[in-house]
Amino acid sequence: MCGIVGYVGFEDVKKIILCGLEKLEYRGYDSAGIAIADNNNVYICKEKGRISNLRECMDGTVSGKLGIGHTRWATHGVPNKINSHPHQSSSKRFTLVHNGIIENEEELRHKYLNGIKFTSDTDTEVIVQLIEKFVGDGESVELAIRHTMSELKGSYALAIIDSEDMNTLYAAKNKTPLLAGKGEGFNMIGSDAMAMINYTNIFYEIEDKEFLKITRDSIEIYTIYGNRVLREPYKADIDASDTEKGTYPHYMMKEIEEQPFVIRKIMSEYSDDNGNMYIDPEIVENVRSCDKLYIIACGTSYHAGLIGKQFFEKIAAKPTEVIIASEFIYNMPLLPENPLFMFISQSGETADCRAVLVKVKEMGYKTLTLTNVKGSTLSREADNTLLLHAGPEIAVASTKAYTAQIAVLSILAAMVDNRVNIDIFKELSKIAYTMETLCDDKDNYREFAEKYLVNSRNCFYIGRSMDYYLCLEASLKLKEISYIQTEGFAAGELKHGTIALIEQGTPVIAVITQENINLNTRSNIKEVKTRGAATMVISLRRLSQETDAIVIDDVNELLSPLAAIIPAQYLAYYAALLKGCDIDKPRNLAKSVTVE
Ligand code: F6R
Repeated sequence: MCGIVGYVGFEDVKKIILCGLEKLEYRGYDSAGIAIADNNNVYICKEKGRISNLRECMDGTVSGKLGIGHTRWATHGVPNKINSHPHQSSSKRFTLVHNGIIENEEELRHKYLNGIKFTSDTDTEVIVQLIEKFVGDGESVELAIRHTMSELKGSYALAIIDSEDMNTLYAAKNKTPLLAGKGEGFNMIGSDAMAMINYTNIFYEIEDKEFLKITRDSIEIYTIYGNRVLREPYKADIDASDTEKGTYPHYMMKEIEEQPFVIRKIMSEYSDDNGNMYIDPEIVENVRSCDKLYIIACGTSYHAGLIGKQFFEKIAAKPTEVIIASEFIYNMPLLPENPLFMFISQSGETADCRAVLVKVKEMGYKTLTLTNVKGSTLSREADNTLLLHAGPEIAVASTKAYTAQIAVLSILAAMVDNRVNIDIFKELSKIAYTMETLCDDKDNYREFAEKYLVNSRNCFYIGRSMDYYLCLEASLKLKEISYIQTEGFAAGELKHGTIALIEQGTPVIAVITQENINLNTRSNIKEVKTRGAATMVISLRRLSQETDAIVIDDVNELLSPLAAIIPAQYLAYYAALLKGCDIDKPRNLAKSVTVE
């Protein structure tokens, strides 16, 4: 959701900024823009739509050594060329790109900017005009930026060019991700490591309300009060090739097929020298000693949390509640004396989760983040972090992060208290193998997608117990990339109203991986079939019947969602492919949702 990138150094900046923007595409955007400082002029090019549009309309003769770029996901003002970033102050001295939302923009316009003519509908323009106003009042550029930061309410990651100093890139951050990248003879900023990974893998984390002054030789970090902050950089364990598609037609397919590898990687990351499961004892003890575990997450990560609850309650006998992050503040449960809050977030940047994290930290509770991104906001701000080790996930629809979340949760639950004596590593090894065999069957899933889904307006996934939670994720995958309206439904609940929607040919996909629900779910399949539904069953081999469409080799029932999600991910993939949808970048969606 919006991305920024900036560079100051010795190379032609155009290529570097465009490359950074392309790496940020996965976050979701509807327009893009670039500013290049070129011989005391600031050249700007911005366009609605894809970065390829920007490439086409750019003046090839422009070059410079300082530049900023932006991908915009519209919040204030429709997605069009005028509202795209960069934005400039009235005199054009300052040029700025912004991620985030300024909540008090109206108030600031009235207080400081009466008489200024605004050219866009964005909140961002207020920021750049304020900087110019404070400089006009006699403040230095640095002071004016920090002064502006102190006036802003809301979230921002900013990159700023002052046309009177073409050697310096300014930046600032509050509640929106920003990293600084350190190079040899150049330095960069970006919304995430991916934007800079082709050039450097050494990064500085930037905290909220920090201000940066960057030249080709130095990165200076300051507090909002102007005090210098000394911080060690860190080396990211990703490289540029992790972010490439290779021979795959889409990132989503690559990421689906990486899942067996990710499961094995997780086992190696969470094992000791003897090959036994290992997780930082402090984390294990925090879960063991809490009265109740609260899992806070959104979307796919929330669905992984629902499976995690089953692990904590069935394997470790630990009472667990799973709550959608954006609902937590309004419906805060009555908390016991010693709760533990676990945040599940692939990106580690989701604003809804962060709002809860800030709240529960204020209340003095312990926190743990489960994330794929080392150094992300939720990771930095929680007491402890467990990493997913899934490698960068670029497709907007989450696949390998979901299964990685479930795998890590199963290991954590078994470390806390393995009351059912499940050999998690043995079962996960079986899962990884089964995932591979399921991936080998993808041509079949394509046929099913063609037969059942492509021409449908709507679809149901039904299941009970664990299968129901799996169905929630399976339906989210299908709807978000193919735009077929899909509901994941508790199979037994259908007859209490929703069955009215079943008509001739409505696809209903049933998932059966649990012995205790097999017969009941099969009755529900009959109910919809007699009302005209086109039914299809995904089942475990030992529970399967001859007519079942997709049969999964027997795996442990508790871990079965890890296998059963594979055909569902492919069904979504092929439905979207056959409908001609933009699989990796579905409409209206962003990978990293940094607004509440
Ligand atoms: C769907 C999807 C989203 C995310 C959700 C939370 O495929 O990816 O539903 O799961 O936006 O994002 P994270 O996990 O980054 O907090």
